[in-house]
Amino acid sequence: MTEKKKAHFLGFIQNGVNSHATGMWRHPKDKVGWDFTRPEYWQHMARTMERGLFDAIFIADELAPYSSFADSSDATVKWAVQCPTHEPSTIVPIITTATSHLGVGITLSTAFEHPYSMARRLSSLDHLSGGRVAWNIVGSYSKSEWDAYGATMDDRSRRYDRIEEYVGLCKRLWNSWEPDAIIADKESGVYADPAKVHEIVHEGEFFKCRGRHFVAPSPQGQPVLWQAGSSERGRDFAAEHAEAIFAIHPDIAQMRAYSDDLNGRVTGKFGRAAESVKMIYGVQPIVAETRREAERKFDGIRALLPREGSLAMLSGQLSVDFSRYDPDTPLQEIEIPGIQGVKDALVRSGAGAEVTIAQAADIYSMRFAMPALVGSPSDVADQLELYMDEGGADGFMLLATYTPGCFEEFVDLVVPELQRRGRYRTAYAGKTLRENLLQN
Ligand SMILES: Cc1cc2nc3c(=O)[nH]c(=O)nc-3n(C[C@H](O)[C@H](O)[C@H](O)COP(=O)(O)O)c2cc1C
Repeated sequence: MTEKKKAHFLGFIQNGVNSHATGMWRHPKDKVGWDFTRPEYWQHMARTMERGLFDAIFIADELAPYSSFADSSDATVKWAVQCPTHEPSTIVPIITTATSHLGVGITLSTAFEHPYSMARRLSSLDHLSGGRVAWNIVGSYSKSEWDAYGATMDDRSRRYDRIEEYVGLCKRLWNSWEPDAIIADKESGVYADPAKVHEIVHEGEFFKCRGRHFVAPSPQGQPVLWQAGSSERGRDFAAEHAEAIFAIHPDIAQMRAYSDDLNGRVTGKFGRAAESVKMIYGVQPIVAETRREAERKFDGIRALLPREGSLAMLSGQLSVDFSRYDPDTPLQEIEIPGIQGVKDALVRSGAGAEVTIAQAADIYSMRFAMPALVGSPSDVADQLELYMDEGGADGFMLLATYTPGCFEEFVDLVVPELQRRGRYRTAYAGKTLRENLLQN
């Protein structure tokens, strides 16, 4: 009999006052005694996730406050809709210094930074962390980001053309030092053999580059590459390049369909080994000792959603001004330039019934269209097992509610339950993030 898969966990947060679940900053249990602007908070979050043997903390990001709603960022600022949010790579050394195994995934956009400096920054962080860095590759889907940088947003297809070229160039830079290029012979004074440190010359549609990578090979060679595209182009890109693919699906049938589609692309279209890519699905665990207690908790969290803030968040992520629509309009009818995977998940969360803009905003601003797993540790573990066994999930992105409490509760309640069932590791397998992520 083949052994059943063991889960992988990632903690899904932002470097800000509030992550994806809107209104959590005012929850009575949120950041009690903690300040998100300070290193101590991040060290505690990281140690908690490492205590729970998570693969990584996943720092989502966007580059500016959403402004799609009513053509303004007023509602975003007013209701703390993923705002304020600080730059994600700044906390990586803080997190990795406080831990020895936990990986850190950082969301960094290809839209406004040259690949040369991106490759250099990620190599530097991979060195500092001892090989525990991942890059969540995004292309900036929100108009506010393009406005903030004084640029015009490209359509999806052109964004992916750019990302393709971008990542290709980064990979060439990361692979441009041969493994034995460094000699470091103090007697002769020769540090490195220039014949083994290759200059990269690139003249593409979007970028030009002529130069050697400024950083010697890092422990992982290149960061672990993560991607979350759901459109046709996004799926192909993820299947070709990603080592972990993130997706949001409201039910098992959609998870299964997505896993099958992506696995087909990974092995069939791009000739990669199936085990070289992990399918990570988003879930929002709301766990307590008893189911009743968890349900009360869920209601308390839901009560904090600000309606206008929820619409502003949905507007931002889908890049559509929902202030111009009747909130009872079915979401399905609206074309979106923003995150396709999010719209699809929201439409499907109605399980056949129409989902209105107002309903979508509520679902989205609380749980990002992920399934909410509300219950006792054994209820939550049952559901996670089903997602692995029937949905094709290899692991889960855990969407935060109040912090750090939601992660402490998950680690104290759900992790031991899964370990008892033999569905979760009891120790890290390797030192680097890639080694741990690829463990079965
Ligand atoms: C689970 C998940 C998390 C994401 N996190 C981010 C993020 O933090 N920042 C960002 O700019 N895009 C994020 N995205 C957007 C995607 O990376 C991608 O750029 C976007 O989905 C557009 O591609 P698509 O139309 O192929 O889905 C996320 C998407 C998903 C599904």
